[in-house]
Amino acid sequence: MNDQHLQRLLPQIIDDLASQGWSRQAHALPQSLTRELAAECHSRAQNGALSPAGVGRGQGLAVREGIRGDSIQWLEPGQSAACDQYLQAMDELRQALNQAFYLGLEDYESHFALYPPGAFYQKHLDRFRDDDRRTVSAVYYLNDDWQDDQGGALRLYPQDGAELDVLPTAGTLVLFISAELPHEVLPATRERLSLTGWFRRRA
Ligand code: OGA
Ligand code: MN
Repeated sequence: MNDQHLQRLLPQIIDDLASQGWSRQAHALPQSLTRELAAECHSRAQNGALSPAGVGRGQGLAVREGIRGDSIQWLEPGQSAACDQYLQAMDELRQALNQAFYLGLEDYESHFALYPPGAFYQKHLDRFRDDDRRTVSAVYYLNDDWQDDQGGALRLYPQDGAELDVLPTAGTLVLFISAELPHEVLPATRERLSLTGWFRRRA
């Protein structure tokens, strides 16, 4: 693995996922890369490249503001050096997860997401009814100087009934088991940027 930041976090990530089904890591990738990714998300938004996100997949896909208010654009390899570095880091993480858990994760799909002020995503699981490939969810946040009173937390509902809020601070990476951990995005008073993605196994 060539990414020192993420490499040093791997043992903790693997321990956390094994013991509690989720992991939160601050400063997961170099700050310079995080800034480039934030700038790219902003310029994609300014160029009109982001589209309102749908809920569900295939024929059931529908844009429903009440459930989810973000706009997204999928990452493809070769779009920018920053995106390629991010995809490379996630691929190394994918391989480490496979070695630790024998999950047979085949690929990683990811999109930029922009929540305008007031937008939210109601409580849900990251697994489609008709497609069970999404296995581990990964959200990487791109927002400098996020303050407690700005809202916008990712609220996790771990199985023990507890609630846990994660602020979308630049450099924070959250991982969780897609089919098991209900979660929601609370509305914020400022724009909220992230890269959200899923490690997938074979259908
Ligand atoms: C999602 C999601 C969480 C976040 O896109 O499925 O739950 O914090 N995102 O952006
Ligand atoms: Mn989700």
